[in-house]
Amino acid sequence: MTAVRPQPRPGVLNIQAYVPGKSSAPGVAKVFKLSSNETPLGPSPQAVAAYNAVGAHLEDYPDGSASELREAIGQAFGLDPDRIACGAGSDDLLNLLARAYLADGDEAIHTTHGFLVYPIATLGTGAKPIVAAEKNYTADVDAMLAAVTKKTKLVFLANPNNPTGTYIPFDEIKRLHKGLPPSVLLVLDAAYAEYVQRNDYESGIELVATSENVVMCRTFSKIHGLAALRLGWMYGPAHVVDAVNRIRGPFNVNAAAIAAGIAAIKDVAHQERSREHNGRWLAWLTQEIGKLGLKVTPSVANFVLIHFPEAKGHTAKDADAFLTARGLILRQVGAYKLPDALRMSVGTEEANRLVVAALKEFLGRAA
Ligand SMILES: Cc1ncc(COP(=O)(O)O)c(C=O)c1O
Repeated sequence: MTAVRPQPRPGVLNIQAYVPGKSSAPGVAKVFKLSSNETPLGPSPQAVAAYNAVGAHLEDYPDGSASELREAIGQAFGLDPDRIACGAGSDDLLNLLARAYLADGDEAIHTTHGFLVYPIATLGTGAKPIVAAEKNYTADVDAMLAAVTKKTKLVFLANPNNPTGTYIPFDEIKRLHKGLPPSVLLVLDAAYAEYVQRNDYESGIELVATSENVVMCRTFSKIHGLAALRLGWMYGPAHVVDAVNRIRGPFNVNAAAIAAGIAAIKDVAHQERSREHNGRWLAWLTQEIGKLGLKVTPSVANFVLIHFPEAKGHTAKDADAFLTARGLILRQVGAYKLPDALRMSVGTEEANRLVVAALKEFLGRAA
């Protein structure tokens, strides 16, 4: 007989806990971590200085409304700071949006290879994640719209998506929005927006500004290099920001994150350097890995998805073991329904060249 004990709400025990990218390779002295889409350039030196200065005042609570940070973000993007909310990473905001808008029996849509936090956040509320099929590793607006039912309350879309690196143009985003009932909240997760160099891309700002049911989430973890501090922000209609403010932790963003975030968003030159480095090496990696005979999904973000054959000795798992033994840590993406692929973050020149050389050696070996 099972003892009576507290039970989590329905859905919680169906969650497959998020497994972060590996960060070590046993027995290897020099490790290149290319498993979590972190920037190889690190944060702005000004952000590091601002972070260090906070150390003198650790006894003080942070500003619970992160006013100065919201103003700095507002200034950088030309947005009303009152329509911005900050979170402990954009993960925090994605979870808060789920908590604010989903309840038992509701449905939230995401795409086949969508970011794993979406089903986790959905199940945590007792709602049901609904998967809309992708086409060519890319979100398919028709499939997303076909998945809408009376129970749909939320649609999560990463644009560009992780781990595929693909995106859909703004016209398609607008078509998706147009096809959704006004009661459904469209969450545009633009964690990698800064890296996109395409004329038909828009992160979502314009749609948020002109509608009542769209939110855009952004992060300081990628181009700003502040992943360790956990900092993200969202821009939304006043009523959505109000709902999130009611349920978020009163001090959900810490003082060091606020200080570093303000400095980072102002250091445009550093962001530019990161964008330039990424553009150059993303193209190089796509081309060089392609030349080895491996398929690389065209990416507009700061990582590439590399597809491996099923042949024994040459699989994604074999490649992962081979690379890890050389201190090159990529990400297995089986949890994203991509068991035959590895995701590689764009790294330093040294790391990028080492991976291509190692893959060449790996493929040249007899199985
Ligand atoms: C698509 C997407 N959204 C959100 C996040 C979460 O970022 P944060 O570090 O701000 O929680 C990630 C992180 O990898 C991501 O890939």
